[in-house]
Amino acid sequence: MAIRTILHYPDKRLRDPGLPVTDFGPDFQKLVEDMAETMYAAPGVGLAATQIGEAKRLFIIDVATGDDEPSDLRVFVNPEILERTGDVRWEEGCLSFPGVHEEIDRAERVKVRAQDREGKPFELEADGLLAVAIQHENDHLDGKLMVDHLGLIKRRLVHRQMIKHAAE
Ligand code: NI
Repeated sequence: MAIRTILHYPDKRLRDPGLPVTDFGPDFQKLVEDMAETMYAAPGVGLAATQIGEAKRLFIIDVATGDDEPSDLRVFVNPEILERTGDVRWEEGCLSFPGVHEEIDRAERVKVRAQDREGKPFELEADGLLAVAIQHENDHLDGKLMVDHLGLIKRRLVHRQMIKHAAE
């Protein structure tokens, strides 16, 4: 396993959409392991392959954030959000936006279809942090970032903050 470099906004590669995963072989398994190690080291609750420069439709989430909670790694490959219901405003962060926390409007609940790391299809209904994380990470696979959900003024402030961060 290896910790990979997480791309920071405004790296243009974050805008590259992920391509469907068709090969679940050893290279892919290694990528999933690397992503898990990278996410836990950061630490973060979610990481998309596009955030480490791998243009693949793959993200991982672990919302077991308590110190004494066992880890609960979930792997989503070729995900598709089938249903979004309700509204919730959630303060989000992103490993590609260090130091940035912004409230973003999301659906309260989602139903998602995806494949696991072995390629086996599954469906999942989620709410709370897991639902928000699924929407956030799924956005990454389309090259969409948290900043795209903000109004113009906030977006400019975050942009400036990130340019400043990159220069430090
Ligand atoms: Ni993110």
